Amino acid sequence: MKAILYPGSFDPITLGHLDVIGRLAHLFDRVVVLVADSPRKNYFFSQTERRELILKSVGEIARSGSRSDLKHIDVQCSNELTVEFAKREGIHLIARSVRTVSDWEYEYAMADANRRLWPEIETFFIMASAEHGFISSSLVREVALFGGETRAFVPQCVTDALKEKVRNI
Ligand code: COA
Repeated sequence: MKAILYPGSFDPITLGHLDVIGRLAHLFDRVVVLVADSPRKNYFFSQTERRELILKSVGEIARSGSRSDLKHIDVQCSNELTVEFAKREGIHLIARSVRTVSDWEYEYAMADANRRLWPEIETFFIMASAEHGFISSSLVREVALFGGETRAFVPQCVTDALKEKVRNI
């Protein structure tokens, strides 16, 4: 059984992330989306909220029929090293999505660190599709904070959650 772990902050999940998850689901028998934290970031949504939004988004897209590949997606949270989680789950592949050349340096450093931490882990790089190549979670949050329309970047349930969050700031 081929399994892959897709870790990220997902603050919030975007259509770009969902495209990657769907494409991974075509290639692997098991896709575990891992909501992890980076100490470099301050989060807008809590880890639990981020996980809930991923589950809701997958459900919303599956119901709309616009993608048929978002099936059997496992979404989990972690407060430990990603490789420790992978080790426990017996997963030897980490997926990372690369959008632009500027992503590479950071991604190489992370892949190298992960391999030093656990030599049995490999990183699988997947290109973001051109349609979503410039979306990022921080861009989406910024649009929402200024009252802009986020529907082109995220599913409806995320747009609603962003509006609610901004109202309560
Ligand atoms: N579509 C949309 N956005 C994409 C994308 C795509 N296909 N591919 C990347 N991105 C964006 C994200 O939206 C995010 O944007 P933002 O910075 O504006 O929020 C950015 O790329 C990178 O985010 P992400 O992939 O979530 O990585 P991260 O740096 O926030 O988080 C962790 C990395 C959480 C996976 C990493 O820190 C980790 O594993 N933490 C656990 C502790 C650990 O093991 N640390 C050691 C790591 S070597």
